[in-house]
Order: sequence, then structure tokens, then C-alpha cells
Amino acid sequence: MNTQNNPQTNFETLLDSLSTQGYVVCENFLPEQIILALRDEAQKRYANLEMRAAKTGLLNQSQQSNIRGDQIMWLDEQLENSAIQAYFEQMHALRMLLNQYLFMNLQAFETHFAIYTVGGAYQRHLDQFGHGNDAKARQLSSVLYLNNDWQVDNGGELRLYLNEIEYLDILPTAGKLVLFLSAKFWHEVRPAKRERVSLTGWFRSRSHSLI
Ligand code: OGA
Ligand code: MN
Repeated sequence: MNTQNNPQTNFETLLDSLSTQGYVVCENFLPEQIILALRDEAQKRYANLEMRAAKTGLLNQSQQSNIRGDQIMWLDEQLENSAIQAYFEQMHALRMLLNQYLFMNLQAFETHFAIYTVGGAYQRHLDQFGHGNDAKARQLSSVLYLNNDWQVDNGGELRLYLNEIEYLDILPTAGKLVLFLSAKFWHEVRPAKRERVSLTGWFRSRSHSLI
């Protein structure tokens, strides 16, 4: 992995924490100018009405928006600008390390921009949902936050449940990457009191549909 561009990211520590806890929070995952460019791009696409209300499965539109209030846009690695490509490169490099050192056998990475407008939230859920053959393919969830100067009273925390009673509230501040095992960690997004921008992604194992 190219660590020259982001000297702050210590991948050894990251892999270590992930393997012992099943989750990790990592600051300054990408250089600041890339984070800025990613945020600009998300906001531009939002302004151009390219984002769509996110869906969760079988429910209709108004049931959906009670559960999850973000708008999203999936990304296609081949077609995107250089900041997004830099992000993909870093995630693929991370995927290689996860496979090499933690034997995770991750085959692919899928990702979308997400914007929560004021009041937007996402109720408690697991990222392995749905009934398709593919439902269990998501192994590791990732969220990279793009929000400048986020304060505690801006809300919008990622609430990660560590067990039945304990949880961790994580502020969605620019450059922070959170990784957690998709099958294990229930989580929610607390109501955001200002616009909240992120890149959410999933490292996937091979689709189960071929078995
Ligand atoms: C999701 C999700 C968390 C976040 O999109 O599935 O849980 O902090 N996002 O944005
Ligand atoms: Mn989720």
C-alpha cells in the first residue's frame, strides 16, 4: 500500500484492531485534498439531482424513508474522476491487505456516495439484509466521512452496537474511516442536524449464487 500520501494511516494498527475487535476507526484515511474533492463531487452530484432515495428491501417509498433518510449514488470505478479513483485504489489496496493478513477472502468492493439532509437518519440495522442469493456476500462494511468541522451537537453519529447494551457513538468527521464486520455489528445513524456526506462501501466475498 502507498503510505507516502497519507503518513498518518498506520495499516498495521488498523489490521490489528480489526482482527481483535471486529471493527476499527481510523483517522486521516486519505489526504485532505482528496477528501475535499470527494465532498465537492458528492455535493455537485446532489445539486445535479443525480442522487436517489436509498432503499432497504421490500418496503414501499414512505415506509423506506422512515427507516432510512439518505440519498445515494453508486459509483463505477471505470468512469469516475481522479479523487474517486484514488479512493478506489486505497480500498483495493486495503482489500489485498485484509486478504493477505486476515485471510478474509474478499473478492470485490462496492460503494456509493450518501447524503443525509437535515433530520435524516437510518434506523438500527445489519448490513446483511435481503433475500437474494447475494444477501450474505457483504463481509466488511466501510464508511468514509467527508464532513468538515463536524461538532458533537450536529448529531449524525454512527452508533455502533458492541453488544446488547454497549455502543460507540462515532462522529462523521472528514477523513475518518470506520470498518466493521457486516454480519456482526448492528448500527444506526442518529438524526443529522446538518447535511452529512459520506462514502459507504462493502467488501464482498464471492456471490453465493453460483453454488
Ligand atoms: C449504511 C450505514 C452508516 C453511516 O449505509 O448502511 O449504515 O455512518 N451507514 O453512514
Ligand atoms: Mn449500515
